[in-house]
Amino acid sequence: SDLCAQGKARDQRVFIRADLNVPQDDAGRITEDTRIRASVPCIRMALDAGAAVMVTSHLGRPTEGAFQPEDSLAPVAQRLSELLGREVPLIANWVDGVQVAPGQVVLLENCRVNPGEKKNSPELAQKMARLCDIYVNDAFGTAHRAEGTTYGIAQYAPVACAGPLLSAEIDAITKALAQPARPLAAIVAGSKVSTKLTILQSLSRNVDQLIVGGGIANTFMLAAGLSIGKSLAEPDLLDEAKAVIAAMAARGAEVPIPTDVVVAKTFAADAPATVKPATEVADDDLILDIGPETARRLASQLKAAGTIVWNGPVGVFEFAAFENGTRTIAQAIAESPAFSIAGGGDTLAAIAKYGIEKQVGYISTGGGAFLEVLEGKTLPAFEILEKRAQAGA
Ligand code: 3PG
Repeated sequence: SDLCAQGKARDQRVFIRADLNVPQDDAGRITEDTRIRASVPCIRMALDAGAAVMVTSHLGRPTEGAFQPEDSLAPVAQRLSELLGREVPLIANWVDGVQVAPGQVVLLENCRVNPGEKKNSPELAQKMARLCDIYVNDAFGTAHRAEGTTYGIAQYAPVACAGPLLSAEIDAITKALAQPARPLAAIVAGSKVSTKLTILQSLSRNVDQLIVGGGIANTFMLAAGLSIGKSLAEPDLLDEAKAVIAAMAARGAEVPIPTDVVVAKTFAADAPATVKPATEVADDDLILDIGPETARRLASQLKAAGTIVWNGPVGVFEFAAFENGTRTIAQAIAESPAFSIAGGGDTLAAIAKYGIEKQVGYISTGGGAFLEVLEGKTLPAFEILEKRAQAGA
């Protein structure tokens, strides 16, 4: 973005790697376009600077060298055209050369169908690097992948830099964790402890409240000596859950364990829901949400927080009978004066459902990438850009 501001992008061929991997329905219609909208400022900046602009992204996980119609970025090109207010031609087979004039923008078809993209073959990366004078990575959502368009091309392009979205995302998340207004509360929910164990461990060294939800909370309830009936849990991770609780307690911090829950006998939208104290879960009960008392207590903690990090709904919020916990948490975040940061596909769906987009301080476009930053990992696609910057590129 500095290059554009300094006028150095005029007449230059700029290759932008964006993350336009958006969900689609069976008919190929885009159901959620946040990532496309978030890519617009970078593209506009390059166009306004007078560059010849190429944009690419992956879509899904296609088989390399075997392009299928459903792999096409055509719906994305259409949506991008609407957002930019100009036609965005879609270019197939672009690796060996692209025709684009200064002041124009083209979309390069799904980069993941190119053989060598996933495993980052140097041959492909060098070819792609020859297409441009300036490589810009603005794909935060894919920054945890070291692929041809996220890593390899950054090694060989004459100039390689981060776009505004990539920089803003990493800044927002790392600042929220490194210099938080306290208390710092994190909500880590989802079905499995195993997929989020390193995040829980890393946050347990930093946050003041670690609010767990979903299957993760069930495992923590087991660790706290409660019965959870036939609820989803990972009993083999009890020791890890206990260690997280102990690490938090040693710092005077807390993992609030639900004191009441909403249970059903089957996992279904119309299953009769019953609120129970957490100590009275029956052997054939399935915990599908936190109870109202727990939700109220967590909501008041969130309202008193200085910073909130949110990943994951705390119950089966797709079913009306089990959405109260997630809705209460969402509303508490919306009403809290705390700076809040949220990410992950299900979390974004909850934010949209409860209409709190404007009250969340920062909504990340990352799924896996957001989680890896929370884990404290350095994202390879960002790391290579830093290396290039240090080398004076
Ligand atoms: C995502 O949706 O999280 C990103 O676009 C990355 O996609 P991937 O997991 O297929 O690499």
